Amino acid sequence: MKTQKILIVDDELSVRELLSEMITYTCGYPTDCAVDGLDGLDKIQHNEYELVFTDMKMPRLNGLDFLKKVKMQKPYLPVVLITAYSNIDLAVKAMKEGASDFVTKPFKPQELKLIIDKLLSEKMFLSEIAEDCDCNMVMEKLNSNLYQKLREISTLYFASAELDEIFDNKELFEKTVDIAERLFKVKEASFGIVQDTNIEIKNAVGCEKKMLPIKGTIFEKVLRTKTYYIAPPGEINPHNGAPLNSPFFSIPFILNGKVVGVLSLSKKINDMEFGDNEILLAMALAKKAGLKMENNALYESIFSNLMNTLNSLITVIGIRDFYTKQHSERIVAYALGIAETMQCGEDIKDIIRVGGFLHDIGKIGVSDTVLLKPTRLNDDEIAQIRMHPVLGDNIIKPLGYFPKERLIIRHHHENYNGTGYPDGLAAGEIPFIARIVSIVDTYDAMTTDRPYRKALGHDVAVAELQRCAGTQFDPEIVKAFCSRPPMSKSDMKKHSDLNYLGHYIQREKVESYNQ
Ligand SMILES: [Fe+2]
Repeated sequence: MKTQKILIVDDELSVRELLSEMITYTCGYPTDCAVDGLDGLDKIQHNEYELVFTDMKMPRLNGLDFLKKVKMQKPYLPVVLITAYSNIDLAVKAMKEGASDFVTKPFKPQELKLIIDKLLSEKMFLSEIAEDCDCNMVMEKLNSNLYQKLREISTLYFASAELDEIFDNKELFEKTVDIAERLFKVKEASFGIVQDTNIEIKNAVGCEKKMLPIKGTIFEKVLRTKTYYIAPPGEINPHNGAPLNSPFFSIPFILNGKVVGVLSLSKKINDMEFGDNEILLAMALAKKAGLKMENNALYESIFSNLMNTLNSLITVIGIRDFYTKQHSERIVAYALGIAETMQCGEDIKDIIRVGGFLHDIGKIGVSDTVLLKPTRLNDDEIAQIRMHPVLGDNIIKPLGYFPKERLIIRHHHENYNGTGYPDGLAAGEIPFIARIVSIVDTYDAMTTDRPYRKALGHDVAVAELQRCAGTQFDPEIVKAFCSRPPMSKSDMKKHSDLNYLGHYIQREKVESYNQ
């Protein structure tokens, strides 16, 4: 047992006890505990410690403020922050304030040992050079140490940023292997996921993509211990069954406490061994990629539920009012025609596809007697119908997505001269996509049989749109619509397919990630 103590500052008794037990058992250091930042400062003033672990969220004095005060009192005392999850921004902020490292819960004995060994050897290095009287040499050593630390942090930061850009697990596997190969300078790298009793290699460099058995292999050790394992030369390479010539490093991907995959690295260029810093870096990379996998899975499930809900809403409208459903399908087709003529991008077309389908969703909140009334509506009934844009907006708003589609839902009855509803917007104040839908909405109403009148012909409807250009409608969009021939039935059918939603989900995911 060593003599110098390690201080643990945390307001949770269970965390203090667990960490204390792990540090003493794994590293042989006695520990001392403080219940919050102020208690910790008091202990540091009256005792000597090798290093300090501190929680972030604590009453009286939080982890970052505690860290700042410690650094003012004892600049050379290493402080490690305890965080609930892997957060690179918080880690960078803490490093700027002088933290030496950070650990995430749940704690792993091997990870703790690596961090403690690394920090104490750095501390020893600093005290050795402090005794050195050659100032130039001291500066050189300090600079090289600092450069190494900056390189590690920036490498992890850029790797993390690269993974943030990925929304598909297949791409995530490829990118993780690619980053690992570059970062650790290995000739062989693979990523596999656990499939019953096997590891299915999803992406690999320098080895084959295939099913590998878990039982009796290095993978079995990683799955059982839920932590990394470095197999020494002589053990069996799970990729080819031959004895290893160089260390084989396997790191688990953990989701919800379960190992779901393994990242493996071997054959380092120059036959070097994996250093402590590289082990920590690899574990941080695996943790980041694991979180990303979890996020992707969560988004898949959220969006598929969302799309099911929207499909159900559209179906409900269709059952209740067949006209509204068919009308919505035709609206999308006509609006896409305008978008094509006006050379709009795919992003606008996607908004039209969903927003057009849902533009009258607020009619769910209008009573049957009004919505399905076969004769002309009185003033009260018209007022009820006029509520549907706001009702529709209120239905979609709580979903937290489709902000642009909601503009169509809310504003498709605004008039170009400001006399429409619900907000009385005029000209450029009315969102462009809502101005498109307003025109095709009226065109479809005019060219469809209604219980109280017969459909008008295409030419008559177009003449009416042109008459109202500049008052009810945007003249430029009317011009674009009128320059097109009447839409054929086959063109109409092409646009009424709901399969576009898959593509749409992907775009929405990218946007919500970037927010
Ligand atoms: Fe409407």
